Amino acid sequence: MLSIEKYQKEFVAYLEQYSTLKEPKNLYEPIQYILGLGGKRLRPVLTLMTTEIFNSDYNKALDAALSIEVFHNFSLVHDDIMDDAPLRRGKETVHEKWDVNTGILSGDAMLIMAYQLFENYEASTFQSLAKLFSKTAIEVCEGQQYDVDFETRNDVTIPEYLKMIEYKTAVLVGAAMKMGAIVANASETDQNNIYEFGRNLGIAFQLQDDYLDAFGNPETFGKQVGGDIIENKKTYLYLKALAFSNDDNSSKLRNLFNTTLEDNDVKIHTVKEIFKISGASDATKKEIKNYTNKAFLVLESLDISDEKKALLRDFGNSLMNRKV
Ligand code: IPE
Ligand code: IPE
Ligand code: MG
Ligand code: MG
Ligand code: MG
Repeated sequence: MLSIEKYQKEFVAYLEQYSTLKEPKNLYEPIQYILGLGGKRLRPVLTLMTTEIFNSDYNKALDAALSIEVFHNFSLVHDDIMDDAPLRRGKETVHEKWDVNTGILSGDAMLIMAYQLFENYEASTFQSLAKLFSKTAIEVCEGQQYDVDFETRNDVTIPEYLKMIEYKTAVLVGAAMKMGAIVANASETDQNNIYEFGRNLGIAFQLQDDYLDAFGNPETFGKQVGGDIIENKKTYLYLKALAFSNDDNSSKLRNLFNTTLEDNDVKIHTVKEIFKISGASDATKKEIKNYTNKAFLVLESLDISDEKKALLRDFGNSLMNRKV
């Protein structure tokens, strides 16, 4: 096994030789741009690591890893249009730098490119990867639709929220790992267990994403801090704040989340205060730990060395402590 940093380096080297620059440049330049902006590369690293955890060579998983990262970046380009987001990884979003139509079509092309990468595998691996990918991609769309629907609903429950983030985010983390297991020809039980590990880690990851969206450092976060508040996203922070607050603060919160304002600074400030004093921000941190521990529990059922389990645990812990 290599270190997490080394897998990341190997992946980025592979990504760099995957040139997407062709004509028409207004289709391909945005693709090159978003893929080159960096990001944590967490999903492809998980794919490569998983292949080696199940005793195969990570080189065999590079195309699957690239496919996952291209898909992830496609989903971000469209997500930024849907969320009206100005910033991604500290730079202008694709639809701001170009325009919305460019974001839509470049995104579509990336989704197709992600599929195309599976063509580099022999028939039975191709079939398993494509099947998992299709199921996952449809679920991501379902999750994204719930996320948007919830913006204008006032009766979203915590179980509904958890299902929404499972679909929009966690299933892709699970799939990234299962793909690594598929490439390594791991048993079906191992494939399913590693998927469960990734799914739980993915739920923790999105809870943390929501937490950072409100409480991240604007200097380093790379996205617009408070973006979820502006868009009236029904996050765990929001739902717990409603549950924990007195009538006064809950109706203040409800009212603020029924408006679209010209000046959002006061809204963001007030909402963050309520998130803090209600105990919602502490409850969110607790739930992040809870889902990370659920993932760690799944590790026990895997028949792999303690050293490999420790590597996966380190990875989970490093996600919990991330600032971006
Ligand atoms: C952002 O994903 C979208 C979510 C599912 C929360 P990442 O936080 O992995 O984004 P990058 O790729 O590192 O920028
Ligand atoms: C993104 O959720 C999920 C997908 C892109 C499928 P968010 O909207 O919270 O992601 P960020 O915060 O913009 O990265
Ligand atoms: Mg977004
Ligand atoms: Mg979104
Ligand atoms: Mg977010």
